[in-house]
Amino acid sequence: MKETITIVGLGYVGLPLAKAFASKGFNVFGYDSSEEKVKSVNEKEQGKIIATTEPDECIQHSDFIIICVPTPINERKEPDLSYISSAVEEVGKYFKSGSTIILESTTYPGTLEEVVKPRLEKTGKDFYLGYSPERLDPGNKIYPLERIPKIISGINKESLEKVKWLYSQIIEAVVEVSNTKTAEATKLVENVFRAVNISLANELAMIFEQMGINTYEVIEAAKTKPYGFMPFYPGPGIGGHCIPVDPFYLAWKAKQVGAESKFIELAGEISYKMTKHVAELITVNTDDSSKILILGVAYKRDIPDTRNSPAKLILEELNRDNRRIDYLDPYVPEYEGLKSIESGNLNLNEYECVVLLTDHEEFKELNFRSYTGVLIDTRNFIIGSGLKCMYIGIGKGYGRD
Ligand SMILES: NC(=O)c1ccc[n+]([C@@H]2O[C@H](COP(=O)([O-])OP(=O)(O)OC[C@H]3O[C@@H](n4cnc5c(N)ncnc54)[C@H](O)[C@@H]3O)[C@@H](O)[C@H]2O)c1
Repeated sequence: MKETITIVGLGYVGLPLAKAFASKGFNVFGYDSSEEKVKSVNEKEQGKIIATTEPDECIQHSDFIIICVPTPINERKEPDLSYISSAVEEVGKYFKSGSTIILESTTYPGTLEEVVKPRLEKTGKDFYLGYSPERLDPGNKIYPLERIPKIISGINKESLEKVKWLYSQIIEAVVEVSNTKTAEATKLVENVFRAVNISLANELAMIFEQMGINTYEVIEAAKTKPYGFMPFYPGPGIGGHCIPVDPFYLAWKAKQVGAESKFIELAGEISYKMTKHVAELITVNTDDSSKILILGVAYKRDIPDTRNSPAKLILEELNRDNRRIDYLDPYVPEYEGLKSIESGNLNLNEYECVVLLTDHEEFKELNFRSYTGVLIDTRNFIIGSGLKCMYIGIGKGYGRD
């Protein structure tokens, strides 16, 4: 009989993990505070994962407990550990002595040692404890969970051994680091790296638009250098639960220890500036009576995730001017009080302005070539000549495709 595992939080991270363990024959419970989530998992998984909103039904029977709850920031851009706190509270109440508890949520270096461990110690029970950040890229078909090397750490050697054994059952390669704060820092460095480089690409895009240079051609050319260059591409601004959020966990902790984090703040500012720039391109190229179509409100292609999507700020900027706006997103039926239009009988020419914010695969079916209005392409999606419209490309400028 295989070990029993409870995954706490069945979201973008927790559910694929639960499925991976279930597929290897583990007994897998999912504990989630959302009734809706539990209902949907139980319907879809048909007994392969037992989801519940009752922690006592699963945690006390588990050898391993993995916490995958959200780690957002508050309006002051400070870490909000309330989800971790409440999850650890519940786990603390019910875990059996000798269990292994692992945190996967992205957080600042020191969280496990300073926040999680003392609370578990208070229970008086024995436990193994580790941190292993999740690197999953939802929607990425080339790198599914099992193919992404997993960083692992433990508060002591025994804990590390437990964590290593567990993940080795589902992941091709595990990468040990010497302590939990190194593992926490590794995840943040990966996302700071992306945030800073995407923002750099966005800044270059805004510069090159003014100079009549195609940023994409520049990047393709620069990419031919065999070392020391890695391509990042512009877009309408950074979105999602991770890249716009996680760097601020490091910035906050840096402040606590008296260090500065200028790149992180700057990356956030440039991303915001790019989103405002897209909104401005729409407003200056339309008038109050223009009908506008937004293509894609998810923050990235082929997934339904709208968290921190640039679409939100853009819609706010436009609604203020009372413009008539529709959106189409095959993954997101409702967004910010609007309902997605149907793609079936869509005629782009009903709109004075079409703005492509997300490069969903489905949009390749749309007939951009016969469109005659203003087309704003934030993803270098519509490539090639023969357009009848006025084309504005982020990083490319007016009339270049
Ligand atoms: N989404 C990603 O692509 C991604 C990638 C890598 C790492 N991460 C990190 O993983 C963590 C989880 O992110 P996510 O995207 O899966 O979040 P999510 O919002 O998709 O899922 C979190 C789930 O946890 C549940 N939950 C919240 N508090 C709970 C509690 N106290 N007890 C039980 N369940 C609770 C919620 O109902 C929800 O279903 C975050 O720290 C995030 O930064 C996310």
